[in-house]
Amino acid sequence: MALVDIPLFIIDHSGSILGVIALSFAIFLLQQTEWSKKYGSIVGFKIGPQNAVVLSDYRHVKELFDKRGGIYSGRPEQYAGQQIICPDNIHMLLAQYGPTWRLMRKAMQGLLNINAIDALHPIQLAEATQTMSHLLDDPEGYYDHIRRYSTSVILASVYSQRGESFQSPKVQNLYNSQYRFSRILEPGATPPVDAFPFLRRLPEFLSPWRTEAKEIRQIQSSLYFNLVKETKERRSKHDLEPCFIEKLLDDQEKNGLNDAQIAYLGGTSMEAGSDTTSAALLTFVLAMTQHPESLKALQAELDRVCGTDRSPNFDDLDQLKYTRACMNEVLRWRPVAPAAVPHMLTQDDTYEGYVLPKGTIVFINAWAIHMNESEYDEPEKFMPERFMGNKFGCKNQDDSDDHRRITYNFGAGRRVCPGQRLAENSVLLNMAKMAWLFDILPISSEPIDTSIRTAFTDGVLIAPHKFPVRFVPRSEQRINVIQGDLERAKKFFARYKE
Ligand code: HEM
Repeated sequence: MALVDIPLFIIDHSGSILGVIALSFAIFLLQQTEWSKKYGSIVGFKIGPQNAVVLSDYRHVKELFDKRGGIYSGRPEQYAGQQIICPDNIHMLLAQYGPTWRLMRKAMQGLLNINAIDALHPIQLAEATQTMSHLLDDPEGYYDHIRRYSTSVILASVYSQRGESFQSPKVQNLYNSQYRFSRILEPGATPPVDAFPFLRRLPEFLSPWRTEAKEIRQIQSSLYFNLVKETKERRSKHDLEPCFIEKLLDDQEKNGLNDAQIAYLGGTSMEAGSDTTSAALLTFVLAMTQHPESLKALQAELDRVCGTDRSPNFDDLDQLKYTRACMNEVLRWRPVAPAAVPHMLTQDDTYEGYVLPKGTIVFINAWAIHMNESEYDEPEKFMPERFMGNKFGCKNQDDSDDHRRITYNFGAGRRVCPGQRLAENSVLLNMAKMAWLFDILPISSEPIDTSIRTAFTDGVLIAPHKFPVRFVPRSEQRINVIQGDLERAKKFFARYKE
């Protein structure tokens, strides 16, 4: 039976098929989760003439994304993103599965292979110290300090530059360009030009989105090309710490990348690594305001492993089992990418009796997987302990089940996020330093909203809206330790350009 024989149209109160998606990605996802309970863990629906399927069980993800990766690794057509803003498959996240994507994915390994990631520890450590110092000096600005952290780590690793504050021009330029770029990529931000290609031929005065897309292209490409130009200039003056772009330029003959591909590999790393990592950290802070018992357990572990004379560092992470459980729970409870990033099927396929035509868009419903009541004990509850007894945090799951991933935040298959290890290192280290240094407290006894519907931004990637929180240093001694760390970090930063 063809899955599309039983199409489920998404229709909002205005009668528009795309309405629900356009109105709210979160509502789309929650609706899908309800449907998965009613219709089963594979739900098909139509977006205009476009077939789409949502997978709400990890077993399907393993079977289709991981085992049949050769045909489940395309990206859905995205005219504004793929044709106007980033043509020629220049943007790795949006690129179609094929030789250009393969070339760039391989080159990305230069930044994100295990050894290269481990070599970034000193940058992450120094930037985490800077963030703790920002939080001590200006706790109200926590939201921007955390966002600065993730961008600055990528700036240093990729371009040997940094953003000392959230107001630094490089950080601001990235977030401004990224804000407009991700908005135009959201479903419903343009007329349905992917489902109905004739709409692409409308004149520009009837298509303001096209003008916006062209402007974004201009802003984005000049930012990415300029960063490479600056890197080249410093390289010629021998004033550069080793960085990813330098390596790509040195190996250009071997890696076969053109200038634009190099520029966009740098840019894609900044985009992909900034908002995502900071969203996970902000969710951690939100969870701590509501779960003092988890914060206490975290602090007990950190004090036992690190004492009070020094703050946590990378050597401690292996021993910090509860801290890791807490990170896994943050990523499970409020996934940064609750429907990962959709893939597109590039050949007709059949699965569990369904016919899936070429061109079908396939979503992983990470939210539904993480909230499955038959697998997780009280899934709505924030409970890091669930990961202490079981690797997957599940009640009856065999720890050795190789069909499962601990989290579906990072997608799956051949397009799985290559930055997962880097991101997790950042999240773990900052969580550890923050909980070691501060009591993270609500401002009042009123509970803070943590609902995915109302407390989070809406879109493919979600982050908590700003919420009231107090960062109260745990002791004078701990403040002194961070100040000592900061002096060392400043010496380290002297090698990087602001
Ligand atoms: C908590 C942090 C992060 C989350 C939740 C996240 C999530 C994701 C997801 C869901 C995808 C799509 C996977 C798929 O299609 O199946 C992705 C792709 C990607 N991510 Fe991440 N990511 C994070 C951090 C990072 C970092 C730090 C980097 C590195 C600088 C990075 C680089 C990339 C790249 C280059 C892609 C495109 C892969 C491709 O299309 O082949 N990400 N990420």
